[in-house]
Parts: sequence; C-alpha cells; structure tokens
Amino acid sequence: MQIAIQSGNILETEADIIIVNLFEGVTRPGGATGAVDEALDGQIRQLIELGDCSGKLGDTTLFYSLGKLPAPRVLVVGLGNASEFDGNKARIAAAKAIRAAKKAKARTVATITHGAGIGGMDPIEAAQALVEASLLENYEMPAERSQEHDQPHIEKLTIVEFNPDNMPLLETGAQIGQIIAESAIFARDLAATPSNIATPSYIAKKATEMAEEVGLDIRIMEREEMEALGMNILLAVAKGSDEPPKFVILEHNKGRAEELPTIVLVGKGVTFDTGGYSLKRTQGMWKMKYDMSGAGNVLGILRAVALLDLPLHVVGLTPLVENMINGHAQKPGDVYRGMTGKTMEVISTDAEGRMILADALAYAGRYNPDAVIDQATLTGAISVALGQQAAGLFTEEEELKTRLLAAAEVTGERLWPMPMYDEYKDYIKSDFADVKNSTSPNRAAGVSTSAKFLQHFIEDYPWAHLDIANMSWTEKPRPMYPKGAAAFGVRLLVQMLRDWDE
Ligand code: BES
Ligand code: ZN
Ligand code: ZN
Repeated sequence: MQIAIQSGNILETEADIIIVNLFEGVTRPGGATGAVDEALDGQIRQLIELGDCSGKLGDTTLFYSLGKLPAPRVLVVGLGNASEFDGNKARIAAAKAIRAAKKAKARTVATITHGAGIGGMDPIEAAQALVEASLLENYEMPAERSQEHDQPHIEKLTIVEFNPDNMPLLETGAQIGQIIAESAIFARDLAATPSNIATPSYIAKKATEMAEEVGLDIRIMEREEMEALGMNILLAVAKGSDEPPKFVILEHNKGRAEELPTIVLVGKGVTFDTGGYSLKRTQGMWKMKYDMSGAGNVLGILRAVALLDLPLHVVGLTPLVENMINGHAQKPGDVYRGMTGKTMEVISTDAEGRMILADALAYAGRYNPDAVIDQATLTGAISVALGQQAAGLFTEEEELKTRLLAAAEVTGERLWPMPMYDEYKDYIKSDFADVKNSTSPNRAAGVSTSAKFLQHFIEDYPWAHLDIANMSWTEKPRPMYPKGAAAFGVRLLVQMLRDWDE
C-alpha cells in the first residue's frame, strides 16, 4: 500500500472512499467530519440521530455521497469516548476503517488522522498510529497461486491534512509508522513462507540482504564455528536435517558498543518443527513453519532499530535450524554439553527450542549486555494458560519487567508475567546430566519449567524471556492482526528500545 500525505480539504479529495471519524456522544460533529456533514446536507447528523452511526470505538458506517463530493463513498469510524482516547484506540480505529474499506473493495482511500483534532493527540503520534495500523491491517501473506485471486486490498492511502503547519509533523510520524509496520511485515513474510523455501540458509540470506539495505553489521556463523564454540546443544537439534544450521548475528552501532547501552535480542529460529523422534501428530503440524517467529521478529526489530537509528548498541542473535529426523538425528536419552560447559539430557526431541536458545543465550553473554531478551514460540502450554490474549513474560529483573510492561501498554501487544519459582528447578533435574529438557510425561507447569531450563544457561546479565507461541499465528482476526503470521512482539520491542533512555 502506497502512502501519501496531502495538504488540503478531504471534501475535495478524489478516492474510492474518504474516511472521517466521530467520538462517542457527539451529535454535532466538527472539523473534517462536520465539513463532510455540511456538504452532505446533514447526513451524518441524521445517521447519528437514527442510531446508525454510534461513535463507538471501531464501529464503521458507510454511505454514499450521491455526487455531492468527488469521492463516491464516505466511511465514518468511531473513536470511542474522547476522555479515554489514546494511541492504541487510534490504531484500532484506523485498522477497523481500513478493514471496512477493504471489504467494500476500495482501491484508493483518503483519510484524516484520528484524534489529532479534539482528541488532543500529538500529530506525530497520530500519523504514526494511522500509518502503522493501516499497513498492518492491509497485510496479505505471500502465496503461490497460478491464478490471481480477488481478495480485496487497498493500493493507496492518502492522508489529508487541513492545517499546512502540521505537514512536517505528519511526515515524521508517518515515516516512523511505516518503518515499524514494514519491519513487522518483514517478519510476518518470513513466518508465513513455507519451510521448503524458508530454510535456515534462506533466512540467513534474507537477513544479509536486509542488513545491507538498512546498514546493519552482519555475520553468519556456520556449523564449524559453532562446533568450535562448543554449541553442542544447539547443534544436536540440527543433526537430523540436511539443511545446514546458521547463526545470524546482526549489530546496530557496533562501533559505539563501549559508549552506548547494549541490548541483545535472541529469537528462536526453528524453520520447521516436526518434533524430531518425539514426532508431532499430523494435525496442525503444517503450521510449525512459524516456529521461527522469534527469529523473524529479531530480524524485523533490528531493521526498525537501524532505520530509526536508535542511540543504542543493539545485537540480534538468531540460531536457525530445522528439527527433523534422519539417521544422525538426536534421540531421547542423549546427553549434550553446551557452550557454558553445562550438560543437558534430551527427554523430548520436541523441546528443541529451549536447546537452541541455551547456546544462543550463552553466546549473548559475550557482549557484556545491559539486557538480554529472548522471544520464542516455545511451548503449547502458554496457549493453554493465556489463549490469544497476551504473551508470557518471564523475568526476575524488576527494571526490565517495568520497561517491557510499559511498552506492552503503549503498543497493545500485551504481556502477562508468569512465575519462575525456584522449586521449578527440581522439575527439570536429570539423573544423567545437569538438567533435562522436558518433564514429559508429566505436564505440570510446562511453561514455567521451560523458562527455568533457559535460566539455567544464563550467566550474569539481566534477562527476560517472552513465550510468544500463542500469539505468533492469529487464529481469529483482531485489529491490525489479520489471520496468519502476526509478528507479535516487533512493535512491542521497538517501543521498549525507543523508550530505553526514559
Ligand atoms: N514449537 C513448539 C511449541 C509450539 C506449540 C509453538 C504450538 C506454537 C504452537 C515447541 O518446540 C514444542 O514442541 N514444545 C513442546 C514442549 C514439550 C515437549 C516439553 C510442547 O509445548 O508440547
Ligand atoms: Zn518442538
Ligand atoms: Zn518448536
């Protein structure tokens, strides 16, 4: 979707649909909505009176301009209660309006920003919210079809601003919104791409192209280098696949590592998870192509960090492997010694995410980080606990927790704190190694024991773990999250990094 910002009057704008807005309880709309109402001889006022246009957050009303405006159709979107309005509500309203315009098969849409007028929102923030939400809502997953399908989507969005003084502010905000949304879309595309294409090598190549484009430092570790580092727990997962493992290292502000805070982001990159010899059942296995969502997110976040040129030293680490079965594959009962020197026993080859993270988190320690945050589609148990309402947050660091929860609040990408009681350590005691990778067949506290396993490999730095298994593939569409690959966590962590200094 192309984005354009225009100074002028939305009344005079040509588009398949023009979008204006309404706060709940308003009976005589002002601003652009009032002007449209005037031009249409009070049609919006009448719709309000009849109860067909409520102003409730995200409610949309579509009607015809019958030749009185250049645009044949007008869409009014509700902004909810003016006193409760914020950036999240602006994004929800924008997304709902775009969804309705898409459904009406509009190709070109013109809109005002939501909430910058009587909403009192900062124009930069309002433009960011509008562009970010519109792009995310208009997203379509890549598909290979031999015939064009007629799924409607919007080709051009024009933001119309009445006050010319606001133009530079809108440009700035729109640019931020576009960077963030397109970075999430970069991650969504990787997660949606089938694993016969999106192999570890393919993702490493995409990361390389992206890094060159946005000016990030990149280095790819091959199997030999990982062997030399003693990453045998990570490599155990890769043994069963013909696809060589890759370990992508991205860095923003590498040259200023000494003077800037260092944040390391780690993402689980299992390009396909069959479960290995602890084989998954057929039902739903196809979706395990998104088991690299954590890695995809890390690449997307680094892209945004580079384009926004944040004043931080940010490192992205993505261990990339395919969890398969062959004559060399790891087996339950195997014991491996990883980079930290600690050993682990394989109980389930399907608990592979925590294995690749064990060595990636060990490697993270090399940067002497101020914080390490990993994202992983780690457990089915997090879905049982939380459904698709929030990702699981595991940390014992108060400061980091506060930062993450604040960013969750701002972006609406919710996190819910989960416990990491010391007693869970007992659950993963092994008779043959320092720790075991699963409590199977005992399923008690499956999500907390996975975090406890990761914690075993953390050496001396503030760390938080996000289990995004429940949030990475949208089952029931929500505003900004059409069905499918979600890249949940990109907006959240970009926000946390943007606010780091505060
Ligand atoms: N990739 C899965 C977790 C997952 C499940 C992600 C559903 C997205 C949707 C992970 O590798 C896994 O298989 N975890 C096991 C762990 C168990 C064997 C301890 C699980 O959750 O069943
Ligand atoms: Zn698994
Ligand atoms: Zn997995």
